[in-house]
Amino acid sequence: METYDAVVIGAGQAGLSASYHLKRRGLSHVVLDADDAPGGAWQHRWDSLSMQDVHGIAALPDADLLGTPDGRANTVVPAYFGDYERAHDLRVLRPVRVDAVTDEGDLLVVHSGERTWTTRTIVNATGTWTQPHLPYYPGAADFAGEQLHTVSYPGPAHFAGRRVVVVGGGASAVQLLGEIAPIAADSLWVTRREPVWRTDEFNPDAGRAAVALVEERVRRGLPPASVVSVTGLALREQERAAERLGAYVRHPMFTRIEPDGVRMPDGGLWPADVILWATGFRPAVNHLAPLHLRSEHGGIQLDGTTAVADPRVQLVGYGPSASTIGANRAGRVAARGVATWLAQASSASSA
Ligand SMILES: Cc1cc2nc3c(=O)[nH]c(=O)nc-3n(C[C@H](O)[C@H](O)[C@H](O)COP(=O)(O)OP(=O)(O)OC[C@H]3O[C@@H](n4cnc5c(N)ncnc54)[C@H](O)[C@@H]3O)c2cc1C
Ligand SMILES: NC(=O)c1ccc[n+]([C@@H]2O[C@H](COP(=O)([O-])OP(=O)(O)OC[C@H]3O[C@@H](n4cnc5c(N)ncnc54)[C@H](OP(=O)(O)O)[C@@H]3O)[C@@H](O)[C@H]2O)c1
Repeated sequence: METYDAVVIGAGQAGLSASYHLKRRGLSHVVLDADDAPGGAWQHRWDSLSMQDVHGIAALPDADLLGTPDGRANTVVPAYFGDYERAHDLRVLRPVRVDAVTDEGDLLVVHSGERTWTTRTIVNATGTWTQPHLPYYPGAADFAGEQLHTVSYPGPAHFAGRRVVVVGGGASAVQLLGEIAPIAADSLWVTRREPVWRTDEFNPDAGRAAVALVEERVRRGLPPASVVSVTGLALREQERAAERLGAYVRHPMFTRIEPDGVRMPDGGLWPADVILWATGFRPAVNHLAPLHLRSEHGGIQLDGTTAVADPRVQLVGYGPSASTIGANRAGRVAARGVATWLAQASSASSA
Protein backbone atom coordinates (compact mmCIF):
# COMPACT_ATOMS: atom_id res chain seq x y z
CA MET A 1 0.00 0.00 0.00
CA GLU A 2 1.27 3.50 -0.89
CA THR A 3 2.52 5.72 1.92
CA TYR A 4 1.60 9.32 1.15
CA ASP A 5 3.54 12.39 2.15
CA ALA A 6 0.18 13.85 3.24
CA VAL A 7 -3.50 13.02 3.43
CA VAL A 8 -5.73 16.08 3.29
CA ILE A 9 -9.05 15.59 5.09
CA GLY A 10 -11.76 17.85 3.69
CA ALA A 11 -12.12 19.57 0.30
CA GLY A 12 -13.50 22.99 1.17
CA GLN A 13 -11.50 26.15 0.54
CA ALA A 14 -8.85 25.13 3.09
CA GLY A 15 -8.39 21.59 1.79
CA LEU A 16 -8.24 22.67 -1.86
CA SER A 17 -5.68 25.35 -1.07
CA ALA A 18 -3.56 22.80 0.84
CA SER A 19 -3.80 20.30 -2.02
CA TYR A 20 -2.80 22.95 -4.57
CA HIS A 21 0.30 23.90 -2.57
CA LEU A 22 1.27 20.29 -1.77
CA LYS A 23 1.06 19.54 -5.48
CA ARG A 24 3.23 22.53 -6.36
CA ARG A 25 5.85 21.20 -3.98
CA GLY A 26 5.67 17.76 -5.61
CA LEU A 27 4.42 16.10 -2.42
CA SER A 28 2.37 12.93 -2.87
CA HIS A 29 -1.09 13.23 -1.35
CA VAL A 30 -4.77 12.48 -1.65
CA VAL A 31 -7.76 14.54 -0.51
CA LEU A 32 -10.59 12.69 1.28
CA ASP A 33 -13.92 14.47 1.41
CA ALA A 34 -17.15 13.40 3.12
CA ASP A 35 -19.47 15.18 0.71
CA ASP A 36 -20.93 13.68 -2.46
CA ALA A 37 -19.89 16.62 -4.62
CA PRO A 38 -17.43 19.55 -4.70
CA GLY A 39 -18.22 22.72 -2.75
CA GLY A 40 -17.31 22.07 0.89
CA ALA A 41 -19.90 23.50 3.28
CA TRP A 42 -21.06 25.97 0.62
CA GLN A 43 -23.20 23.30 -1.04
CA HIS A 44 -25.24 23.09 2.19
CA ARG A 45 -25.86 26.82 2.76
CA TRP A 46 -29.51 27.86 2.81
CA ASP A 47 -31.15 28.66 -0.52
CA SER A 48 -31.82 32.31 0.32
CA LEU A 49 -28.08 33.02 0.86
CA SER A 50 -27.33 34.74 -2.43
CA MET A 51 -23.97 35.83 -3.77
CA GLN A 52 -25.02 39.38 -2.86
CA ASP A 53 -25.45 38.27 0.77
CA VAL A 54 -22.09 36.55 1.36
CA HIS A 55 -19.32 38.49 3.05
CA GLY A 56 -16.94 37.85 0.18
CA ILE A 57 -15.16 34.76 -1.06
CA ALA A 58 -11.41 34.91 -1.60
CA ALA A 59 -10.11 33.48 -4.87
CA LEU A 60 -8.63 29.99 -4.58
CA PRO A 61 -4.83 29.96 -5.17
CA ASP A 62 -3.88 30.73 -8.76
CA ALA A 63 -7.55 31.21 -9.75
CA ASP A 64 -9.66 34.17 -10.77
CA LEU A 65 -11.88 35.87 -8.23
CA LEU A 66 -15.45 34.68 -8.14
CA GLY A 67 -16.72 38.26 -7.99
CA THR A 68 -20.36 38.70 -6.98
CA PRO A 69 -22.33 36.95 -9.71
CA ASP A 70 -26.07 36.58 -9.39
CA GLY A 71 -27.32 33.34 -8.00
CA ARG A 72 -27.35 31.22 -4.90
CA ALA A 73 -24.13 30.73 -2.96
CA ASN A 74 -24.93 27.01 -2.64
CA THR A 75 -24.69 26.53 -6.40
CA VAL A 76 -22.25 29.24 -7.55
CA VAL A 77 -19.44 28.42 -5.09
CA PRO A 78 -19.61 24.62 -5.53
CA ALA A 79 -19.37 25.09 -9.32
CA TYR A 80 -16.29 27.29 -8.78
CA PHE A 81 -14.69 24.63 -6.53
CA GLY A 82 -15.52 21.84 -9.00
CA ASP A 83 -13.95 23.76 -11.88
CA TYR A 84 -10.88 24.38 -9.73
CA GLU A 85 -10.45 20.70 -8.82
CA ARG A 86 -10.59 19.81 -12.51
CA ALA A 87 -8.38 22.67 -13.72
CA HIS A 88 -5.63 21.77 -11.26
CA ASP A 89 -6.21 18.02 -11.49
CA LEU A 90 -6.53 17.70 -7.70
CA ARG A 91 -7.12 14.15 -6.53
CA VAL A 92 -10.23 14.25 -4.34
CA LEU A 93 -11.88 10.99 -3.27
CA ARG A 94 -15.54 11.28 -2.25
CA PRO A 95 -17.65 10.52 -0.49
CA VAL A 96 -15.12 9.45 2.16
CA ARG A 97 -15.94 10.36 5.75
CA VAL A 98 -12.87 9.93 7.95
CA ASP A 99 -13.79 8.29 11.28
CA ALA A 100 -10.38 8.30 12.92
CA VAL A 101 -6.69 9.03 12.48
CA THR A 102 -4.38 6.78 14.46
CA ASP A 103 -0.70 6.98 15.33
CA GLU A 104 1.20 3.91 14.09
CA GLY A 105 4.78 4.64 15.06
CA ASP A 106 6.37 6.90 12.46
CA LEU A 107 3.26 6.90 10.32
CA LEU A 108 -0.36 7.99 10.63
CA VAL A 109 -3.26 5.85 9.46
CA VAL A 110 -6.46 7.49 8.26
CA HIS A 111 -9.59 5.33 8.67
CA SER A 112 -12.94 5.48 6.91
CA GLY A 113 -14.98 2.39 7.70
CA GLU A 114 -12.93 -0.54 6.40
CA ARG A 115 -10.70 1.64 4.23
CA THR A 116 -7.34 3.02 5.37
CA TRP A 117 -4.67 5.37 4.02
CA THR A 118 -1.12 5.44 5.39
CA THR A 119 0.65 8.77 5.49
CA ARG A 120 3.58 10.65 6.99
CA THR A 121 1.47 13.74 7.76
CA ILE A 122 -2.13 14.94 7.63
CA VAL A 123 -3.65 18.29 6.78
CA ASN A 124 -7.00 18.52 8.52
CA ALA A 125 -9.46 20.79 6.71
CA THR A 126 -12.84 19.63 7.95
CA GLY A 127 -14.36 23.03 8.78
CA THR A 128 -17.17 23.49 11.29
CA TRP A 129 -20.44 23.01 9.38
CA THR A 130 -20.89 19.40 10.54
CA GLN A 131 -20.59 20.47 14.19
CA PRO A 132 -23.48 22.86 14.88
CA HIS A 133 -23.41 24.05 18.46
CA LEU A 134 -26.73 23.46 20.22
CA PRO A 135 -26.48 24.68 23.81
CA TYR A 136 -28.51 23.14 26.60
CA TYR A 137 -31.18 25.25 28.29
CA PRO A 138 -33.54 23.81 30.91
CA GLY A 139 -36.89 22.73 29.55
CA ALA A 140 -35.72 22.43 25.93
CA ALA A 141 -36.92 18.84 25.64
CA ASP A 142 -40.47 19.86 26.67
CA PHE A 143 -40.90 22.65 24.12
CA ALA A 144 -44.06 21.91 22.10
CA GLY A 145 -42.99 23.97 19.11
CA GLU A 146 -40.17 23.50 16.63
CA GLN A 147 -36.45 23.93 17.30
CA LEU A 148 -33.88 24.25 14.58
CA HIS A 149 -30.31 25.39 14.11
CA THR A 150 -28.76 27.62 11.44
CA VAL A 151 -27.55 24.47 9.60
CA SER A 152 -31.11 23.47 8.78
CA TYR A 153 -32.55 26.96 8.15
CA PRO A 154 -35.30 26.26 5.61
CA GLY A 155 -35.76 29.83 4.33
CA PRO A 156 -38.03 32.64 5.52
CA ALA A 157 -41.36 31.27 4.22
CA HIS A 158 -41.21 28.52 6.86
CA PHE A 159 -41.65 31.17 9.57
CA ALA A 160 -44.55 33.10 8.04
CA GLY A 161 -47.18 33.94 10.63
CA ARG A 162 -45.26 32.20 13.44
CA ARG A 163 -43.76 33.54 16.66
CA VAL A 164 -40.02 33.01 16.45
CA VAL A 165 -37.27 33.24 19.08
CA VAL A 166 -33.81 33.68 17.56
CA VAL A 167 -30.94 32.78 19.90
CA GLY A 168 -27.38 34.02 19.36
CA GLY A 169 -25.67 37.28 18.52
CA GLY A 170 -23.61 36.44 15.42
CA ALA A 171 -23.95 37.11 11.70
CA SER A 172 -26.26 34.10 11.30
CA ALA A 173 -28.75 35.46 13.86
CA VAL A 174 -28.69 38.94 12.37
CA GLN A 175 -29.05 37.74 8.81
CA LEU A 176 -31.77 35.18 9.50
CA LEU A 177 -33.74 37.70 11.62
CA GLY A 178 -33.50 40.09 8.68
CA GLU A 179 -35.38 37.58 6.55
CA ILE A 180 -37.76 36.21 9.16
CA ALA A 181 -38.91 39.29 11.09
CA PRO A 182 -40.79 40.94 8.19
CA ILE A 183 -43.04 37.90 7.68
CA ALA A 184 -43.20 36.28 11.13
CA ALA A 185 -46.15 36.99 13.44
CA ASP A 186 -43.54 38.21 15.93
CA SER A 187 -39.86 37.74 16.64
CA LEU A 188 -37.71 37.92 19.75
CA TRP A 189 -33.92 38.21 19.62
CA VAL A 190 -32.05 36.90 22.66
CA THR A 191 -28.30 36.89 23.25
CA ARG A 192 -26.22 36.01 26.28
CA ARG A 193 -24.21 39.22 26.10
CA GLU A 194 -24.81 42.66 24.64
CA PRO A 195 -24.15 42.67 20.89
CA VAL A 196 -21.14 44.74 19.87
CA TRP A 197 -22.16 46.79 16.82
CA ARG A 198 -19.37 47.99 14.57
CA THR A 199 -19.50 51.64 13.71
CA ASP A 200 -16.50 51.43 11.38
CA GLU A 201 -16.06 49.40 8.20
CA PHE A 202 -14.85 45.77 8.46
CA ASN A 203 -11.81 46.48 6.28
CA PRO A 204 -8.62 44.40 5.91
CA ASP A 205 -7.10 46.05 9.00
CA ALA A 206 -10.13 45.07 11.08
CA GLY A 207 -9.89 41.57 9.60
CA ARG A 208 -6.22 41.29 10.60
CA ALA A 209 -7.01 42.49 14.12
CA ALA A 210 -9.77 39.86 14.45
CA VAL A 211 -7.46 37.11 13.18
CA ALA A 212 -4.72 38.18 15.62
CA LEU A 213 -7.13 37.75 18.55
CA VAL A 214 -8.01 34.20 17.50
CA GLU A 215 -4.37 33.37 16.74
CA GLU A 216 -3.46 34.38 20.25
CA ARG A 217 -6.10 32.02 21.68
CA VAL A 218 -5.05 28.97 19.68
CA ARG A 219 -1.37 29.67 20.29
CA ARG A 220 -2.21 29.29 23.99
CA GLY A 221 -4.19 26.09 23.39
CA LEU A 222 -7.61 27.64 24.04
CA PRO A 223 -10.58 26.65 21.87
CA PRO A 224 -11.65 29.32 19.34
CA ALA A 225 -14.43 31.54 20.73
CA SER A 226 -17.50 32.63 18.71
CA VAL A 227 -16.65 34.33 15.41
CA VAL A 228 -18.70 37.40 16.32
CA SER A 229 -16.74 37.88 19.54
CA VAL A 230 -13.80 39.04 17.41
CA THR A 231 -15.57 40.56 14.39
CA GLY A 232 -18.48 42.49 15.91
CA LEU A 233 -21.77 42.99 14.09
CA ALA A 234 -23.13 45.25 11.38
CA LEU A 235 -26.48 45.67 9.67
CA ARG A 236 -26.66 45.74 5.89
CA GLU A 237 -29.29 47.09 3.49
CA GLN A 238 -30.95 43.66 3.48
CA GLU A 239 -31.64 43.99 7.21
CA ARG A 240 -33.11 47.50 7.28
CA ALA A 241 -36.75 46.39 6.96
CA ALA A 242 -36.35 44.11 9.98
CA GLU A 243 -34.56 46.89 11.85
CA ARG A 244 -37.51 49.24 11.27
CA LEU A 245 -39.78 46.58 12.80
CA GLY A 246 -37.63 46.54 15.94
CA ALA A 247 -36.24 43.06 15.29
CA TYR A 248 -32.76 44.06 16.49
CA VAL A 249 -33.84 45.14 19.93
CA ARG A 250 -31.79 42.66 21.87
CA HIS A 251 -33.21 40.85 24.90
CA PRO A 252 -31.29 38.91 27.54
CA MET A 253 -31.40 35.11 27.48
CA PHE A 254 -34.53 33.39 28.74
CA THR A 255 -34.16 31.57 32.03
CA ARG A 256 -35.89 28.40 30.83
CA ILE A 257 -37.88 26.93 27.99
CA GLU A 258 -41.48 25.90 28.61
CA PRO A 259 -43.87 23.95 26.37
CA ASP A 260 -45.50 27.13 25.04
CA GLY A 261 -42.62 29.57 24.98
CA VAL A 262 -39.63 30.97 26.81
CA ARG A 263 -39.60 32.33 30.36
CA MET A 264 -37.86 35.72 30.44
CA PRO A 265 -35.75 37.03 33.36
CA ASP A 266 -38.58 39.42 34.36
CA GLY A 267 -40.82 36.36 34.91
CA GLY A 268 -43.00 36.87 31.83
CA LEU A 269 -43.64 34.11 29.29
CA TRP A 270 -42.91 34.99 25.64
CA PRO A 271 -45.18 32.59 23.71
CA ALA A 272 -43.25 30.97 20.87
CA ASP A 273 -43.89 28.55 18.00
CA VAL A 274 -40.25 28.20 16.92
CA ILE A 275 -36.81 28.53 18.52
CA LEU A 276 -34.05 29.12 15.99
CA TRP A 277 -30.64 28.40 17.50
CA ALA A 278 -28.16 30.63 15.66
CA THR A 279 -25.54 29.62 18.19
CA GLY A 280 -22.61 28.93 15.94
CA PHE A 281 -20.39 25.97 15.26
CA ARG A 282 -17.46 24.01 16.68
CA PRO A 283 -14.43 22.65 14.80
CA ALA A 284 -15.16 19.21 13.29
CA VAL A 285 -12.18 17.39 14.78
CA ASN A 286 -13.65 14.35 16.58
CA HIS A 287 -11.82 11.98 14.21
CA LEU A 288 -8.51 13.36 15.53
CA ALA A 289 -9.29 12.29 19.13
CA PRO A 290 -6.95 9.22 19.03
CA LEU A 291 -4.02 11.61 18.48
CA HIS A 292 -4.64 13.41 21.81
CA LEU A 293 -4.02 16.86 20.35
CA ARG A 294 -6.06 18.83 22.87
CA SER A 295 -4.20 20.95 25.37
CA GLU A 296 -5.12 21.23 29.04
CA HIS A 297 -7.04 24.37 28.03
CA GLY A 298 -9.44 22.40 25.82
CA GLY A 299 -8.31 23.55 22.37
CA ILE A 300 -5.72 22.28 19.91
CA GLN A 301 -2.61 24.36 20.42
CA LEU A 302 -1.16 25.53 17.12
CA ASP A 303 2.13 27.05 16.06
CA GLY A 304 1.04 28.58 12.74
CA THR A 305 -0.96 25.67 11.32
CA THR A 306 1.12 22.97 13.03
CA ALA A 307 -0.28 21.08 16.02
CA VAL A 308 2.13 21.54 18.90
CA ALA A 309 1.26 18.11 20.34
CA ASP A 310 2.09 16.35 17.05
CA PRO A 311 3.87 18.31 14.29
CA ARG A 312 2.81 15.72 11.69
CA VAL A 313 -0.64 17.30 11.92
CA GLN A 314 -1.58 20.57 10.21
CA LEU A 315 -4.93 22.26 10.90
CA VAL A 316 -6.33 24.60 8.27
CA GLY A 317 -9.66 26.42 8.32
CA TYR A 318 -9.39 26.18 12.11
CA GLY A 319 -9.60 29.21 14.42
CA PRO A 320 -7.72 32.12 12.83
CA SER A 321 -7.95 30.56 9.36
CA ALA A 322 -11.74 29.96 9.49
CA SER A 323 -12.49 32.38 6.66
CA THR A 324 -11.99 31.94 2.94
CA ILE A 325 -8.98 34.27 2.91
CA GLY A 326 -7.55 32.61 6.01
CA ALA A 327 -8.15 29.13 4.61
CA ASN A 328 -6.27 30.07 1.46
CA ARG A 329 -3.22 31.29 3.34
CA ALA A 330 -3.33 28.39 5.79
CA GLY A 331 -3.20 25.91 2.90
CA ARG A 332 0.10 27.44 1.79
CA VAL A 333 1.52 27.51 5.31
CA ALA A 334 0.42 23.91 5.94
CA ALA A 335 2.13 22.65 2.77
CA ARG A 336 5.31 24.35 3.97
CA GLY A 337 4.81 22.72 7.39
CA VAL A 338 4.47 19.30 5.76
CA ALA A 339 7.64 19.86 3.70
CA THR A 340 9.53 20.99 6.81
CA TRP A 341 8.45 17.91 8.76
CA LEU A 342 9.38 15.54 5.92
CA ALA A 343 12.81 17.15 5.59
CA GLN A 344 13.45 16.88 9.34
CA ALA A 345 12.20 13.29 9.47
CA SER A 346 14.39 12.28 6.54
CA SER A 347 17.53 13.93 7.96
CA ALA A 348 16.84 12.31 11.36
CA SER A 349 16.53 8.85 9.77
CA SER A 350 19.72 9.26 7.70
CA ALA A 351 21.76 10.58 10.67
C1 LIG B 1 -23.38 30.70 6.75
C2 LIG B 1 -21.94 30.96 6.61
C3 LIG B 1 -21.51 31.91 5.68
C4 LIG B 1 -20.16 32.20 5.56
N1 LIG B 1 -19.79 33.18 4.68
C5 LIG B 1 -18.48 33.46 4.54
C6 LIG B 1 -18.05 34.45 3.61
O1 LIG B 1 -18.86 35.07 2.91
N2 LIG B 1 -16.72 34.70 3.49
C7 LIG B 1 -15.79 34.02 4.24
O2 LIG B 1 -14.58 34.27 4.09
N3 LIG B 1 -16.16 33.06 5.13
C8 LIG B 1 -17.48 32.77 5.29
N4 LIG B 1 -17.87 31.81 6.19
C9 LIG B 1 -16.87 31.07 6.94
C10 LIG B 1 -16.56 29.79 6.10
O3 LIG B 1 -17.06 28.70 6.75
C11 LIG B 1 -15.09 29.66 5.81
O4 LIG B 1 -14.64 30.82 5.30
C12 LIG B 1 -14.68 28.60 4.79
O5 LIG B 1 -15.60 28.48 3.75
C13 LIG B 1 -14.50 27.31 5.46
O6 LIG B 1 -13.78 26.49 4.57
P1 LIG B 1 -13.20 25.13 5.08
O7 LIG B 1 -12.49 24.53 3.92
O8 LIG B 1 -12.43 25.31 6.33
O9 LIG B 1 -14.48 24.25 5.50
P2 LIG B 1 -15.74 23.67 4.72
O10 LIG B 1 -16.15 24.47 3.56
O11 LIG B 1 -16.73 23.38 5.80
O12 LIG B 1 -15.21 22.28 4.14
C14 LIG B 1 -14.96 21.19 4.98
C15 LIG B 1 -14.98 19.94 4.15
O13 LIG B 1 -14.56 18.87 5.00
C16 LIG B 1 -15.39 17.75 4.79
N5 LIG B 1 -15.39 16.96 6.01
C17 LIG B 1 -15.88 17.31 7.23
N6 LIG B 1 -15.67 16.31 8.10
C18 LIG B 1 -15.05 15.32 7.41
C19 LIG B 1 -14.56 14.03 7.75
N7 LIG B 1 -14.66 13.54 8.99
N8 LIG B 1 -13.98 13.27 6.78
C20 LIG B 1 -13.85 13.75 5.51
N9 LIG B 1 -14.28 14.97 5.14
C21 LIG B 1 -14.86 15.73 6.08
C22 LIG B 1 -16.74 18.30 4.42
O14 LIG B 1 -17.44 17.33 3.65
C23 LIG B 1 -16.37 19.57 3.64
O15 LIG B 1 -16.32 19.30 2.24
C24 LIG B 1 -19.22 31.50 6.35
C25 LIG B 1 -19.65 30.53 7.27
C26 LIG B 1 -21.00 30.27 7.40
C27 LIG B 1 -21.43 29.24 8.41
N1 LIG C 1 -23.70 36.45 4.85
C1 LIG C 1 -22.75 35.68 5.23
O1 LIG C 1 -21.75 35.55 4.55
C2 LIG C 1 -22.86 34.98 6.57
C3 LIG C 1 -24.09 34.72 7.16
C4 LIG C 1 -24.12 34.02 8.35
C5 LIG C 1 -22.95 33.60 8.96
N2 LIG C 1 -21.77 33.89 8.35
C6 LIG C 1 -20.48 33.45 8.95
O2 LIG C 1 -20.67 32.20 9.57
C7 LIG C 1 -19.77 32.06 10.63
C8 LIG C 1 -20.54 31.66 11.88
O3 LIG C 1 -21.42 32.72 12.28
P1 LIG C 1 -22.55 32.41 13.35
O4 LIG C 1 -23.31 33.63 13.58
O5 LIG C 1 -23.26 31.17 12.95
O6 LIG C 1 -21.70 32.01 14.65
P2 LIG C 1 -20.83 32.90 15.68
O7 LIG C 1 -20.36 34.16 15.07
O8 LIG C 1 -19.82 31.97 16.22
O9 LIG C 1 -21.88 33.33 16.80
C9 LIG C 1 -22.47 32.36 17.63
C10 LIG C 1 -23.39 33.08 18.59
O10 LIG C 1 -24.01 32.11 19.44
C11 LIG C 1 -23.85 32.52 20.79
N3 LIG C 1 -23.84 31.39 21.72
C12 LIG C 1 -22.95 30.38 21.78
N4 LIG C 1 -23.26 29.57 22.82
C13 LIG C 1 -24.36 30.10 23.40
C14 LIG C 1 -25.13 29.74 24.52
N5 LIG C 1 -24.82 28.67 25.27
N6 LIG C 1 -26.19 30.51 24.84
C15 LIG C 1 -26.51 31.60 24.12
N7 LIG C 1 -25.79 32.01 23.04
C16 LIG C 1 -24.73 31.26 22.70
C17 LIG C 1 -22.52 33.22 20.80
O11 LIG C 1 -22.39 34.00 21.96
P3 LIG C 1 -20.92 34.41 22.51
O12 LIG C 1 -20.34 35.36 21.51
O13 LIG C 1 -21.23 35.01 23.83
O14 LIG C 1 -20.14 33.13 22.60
C18 LIG C 1 -22.65 34.06 19.52
O15 LIG C 1 -23.44 35.17 19.73
C19 LIG C 1 -19.06 33.41 10.75
O16 LIG C 1 -17.85 33.34 10.05
C20 LIG C 1 -19.99 34.35 10.04
O17 LIG C 1 -19.35 35.49 9.51
C21 LIG C 1 -21.70 34.57 7.18
